[in-house]
Amino acid sequence: MHLPTAADTLALGAQLAARIGPGDIVGLMGELGAGKTTLVRGIIGALGHRGEVRSPTFNLVQEYETAPPVCHVDLYRLENIRQVIDLGLTDYMTTHALLIEWIERANGLIEPTIRVHLTFADVGREAEIT
Ligand SMILES: Nc1ncnc2c1ncn2[C@@H]1O[C@H](COP(=O)(O)OP(=O)(O)OP(=O)(O)O)[C@@H](O)[C@H]1O
Ligand SMILES: [Mg+2]
Repeated sequence: MHLPTAADTLALGAQLAARIGPGDIVGLMGELGAGKTTLVRGIIGALGHRGEVRSPTFNLVQEYETAPPVCHVDLYRLENIRQVIDLGLTDYMTTHALLIEWIERANGLIEPTIRVHLTFADVGREAEIT
């Protein structure tokens, strides 16, 4: 779908939020600045979080006590595949929904239930959801 503005990316996140439950893994793909964190903001906001959603750049994982609770993960700074295991994401999988930016860096070690691929368009962005 076409997302002409950042507000449309947030709105798509809100729509996705209605379909997300514990155990879901939303894998976000798309180059730098494609809108992955914006989409995550839309999801986390719609799930009831009030306040900022920062990119989890240094700790890689940020937890939110929403309903359902979510873990926001950014694999951009992942240095090796071993680190994916060390993140301990399996501990969250029964209780939380995982929202994972740069899912392609997990080298297939994490299998998303929902994939969102964001690309740049002439105006705004395109999102492909599978
Ligand atoms: N549909 C859209 N149209 C225009 N601008 C958008 C759209 N969606 C998001 N943006 C803008 O794109 C910029 C980058 O967004 P964002 O930080 O979400 O990207 P990202 O994919 O998370 O980047 P990174 O790879 O650095 O983590 C922000 O300024 C955001 O407002
Ligand atoms: Mg980001």
